[in-house]
Amino acid sequence: MKLFAHRGFSGKYPENTLLAFRKAAELDIFGVEFDVHLTADRQLVVIHDETIDRTSNGSGFVKDMTLKELRQYDYGKWFGEQFAGEKIPTLREVLAVFKETDHILNIEIKSDIFEYKGIEQLISEEIEMAGIQERIIISSFNHESIQRFHQLQPTIQTGVLFSSLIVDINSYVNSLPGDALHIHYYHIYRHAIQRVIEDGCTVRAFTVNDAAIARQLQTAGIEAIFTDVPDIILSSLHRI
Ligand code: G3P
Ligand code: CA
Repeated sequence: MKLFAHRGFSGKYPENTLLAFRKAAELDIFGVEFDVHLTADRQLVVIHDETIDRTSNGSGFVKDMTLKELRQYDYGKWFGEQFAGEKIPTLREVLAVFKETDHILNIEIKSDIFEYKGIEQLISEEIEMAGIQERIIISSFNHESIQRFHQLQPTIQTGVLFSSLIVDINSYVNSLPGDALHIHYYHIYRHAIQRVIEDGCTVRAFTVNDAAIARQLQTAGIEAIFTDVPDIILSSLHRI
């Protein structure tokens, strides 16, 4: 089973920071996942929440601040004094960390609470500039955003994110330009998901931080998991 470091190596380092990505890049894992928002001056930044309140010493919505304003704050200290000095990274800076590695990069477009108009085009341009189209998976809880991205870059892989199940998920997934289903791990044993797997769809599960659960998912036919603790899961899977 493949492992994605969720928000970088976020179990040990402050999530979605360059430090967390550099540490993930050192690991022998399949890929890395991270979240992208758009600033007031239309810069692509990597952060999970719509606001900076939880993961910085500042406050406010990402969409209301310029990159310069967002860069004034510290995004490491909340996780531990020793991480002080981390800044909010741009998508370009994160892609650069993985320029020379072979990791797969799952970019989650966080355009589901606020709809960032044109974000798909901007992300598409950044990926082209980095020249790593074949190592990208685009995902989103906003399935229209996935569709828009697919129209721009039909050869780039996509993952359709669900936080809960819907009726007839199988036909829904087949109707989308999605190469994979990304779903919370506690839905994996539901009959509907088992059918999706049997029908040959790639299913990936988030966010799995327990080694015993990871081992169970491996036997359930899951292609990959997203985890904050790739080091722990990696050593546990190796012990099988
Ligand atoms: O992409 C999987 C997972 O990251 C989705 O949930 O809230 O951690 O972005 P969240
Ligand atoms: Ca995410």
